[in-house]
Amino acid sequence: MTPSRALVLGILALTTTLSPCGGEFDVKADHVGIYGLEVYQSYGPNGQYTMEFDGDEELYVDLGKKETVWRIPEFGQLINFDPQGGLQEIATAKHNLNLLIKETNSTPTTNDIPEVTVFPKVPVLLGQPNTLICFVDKIFPPVVNITWLKNSKSVTETVYETSFLSNSDHSFHKMSYLTFIPSDDDVYDCKVEHWGLEEPTLKHWEPEVPAPMSELTETVVCALGLSVGIVGIVVGTIFIIQGLRSGGSSRHPGPL
Ligand SMILES: *[C@@H]1O[C@H](CO)[C@@H](O)[C@H](O)[C@H]1NC(C)=O
Repeated sequence: MTPSRALVLGILALTTTLSPCGGEFDVKADHVGIYGLEVYQSYGPNGQYTMEFDGDEELYVDLGKKETVWRIPEFGQLINFDPQGGLQEIATAKHNLNLLIKETNSTPTTNDIPEVTVFPKVPVLLGQPNTLICFVDKIFPPVVNITWLKNSKSVTETVYETSFLSNSDHSFHKMSYLTFIPSDDDVYDCKVEHWGLEEPTLKHWEPEVPAPMSELTETVVCALGLSVGIVGIVVGTIFIIQGLRSGGSSRHPGPL
């Protein structure tokens, strides 16, 4: 083996050793605020006025009560938002929609097929309070029913739902939260009704049998990778030294 090849092996071994075990290097520097997203549709009829920051809901204007509702109530004590502005925007949107309906001879919109995902907020431990999140994406038009079933029976208490949040393709997503205490005996379904679905989608969720293996497996894989790397360095170094020695004593031109 020539020194250069040994060196490559050494470097390979070093890269293996240096590669992170489960590290994350994503850096997000950009922020996106959406101020005054208004949605109005003739079914209902129904409108929504919201503000978003980095994809999270900041506030919505309760069009019935004519008041601002902050997603985090404490924000409302720091900042004031006049709901009147939102109400006016919705009135304009309603006016424009009526014009568009006339211009298009009441052509209805096409329905997208929503995507439904259910997952817990934090890793599940039986008996530890947690929150189930039903994430419904690709909602268009923004008319949807999201409900929860516990052991096939409807649950309405301890449920919170976000407004429609915007996607870049003009569809919407929405989340419904169910606070619950995980138990071996309880199973849950998030039920989504939308015109894009022939029948309601039921997304099933139940606690998995606790798997402390996963973290153990991670550690084992990490340790194995580390030892392979170290062995590689040692072997690589030996080859380098051997290569340098033999290269120094007998200059032996050859195909290798
Ligand atoms: C939502 O539920 C209401 C009441 O059950 C029903 O009238 C409506 O059609 C449902 N909406 C959709 C999109 O299925």
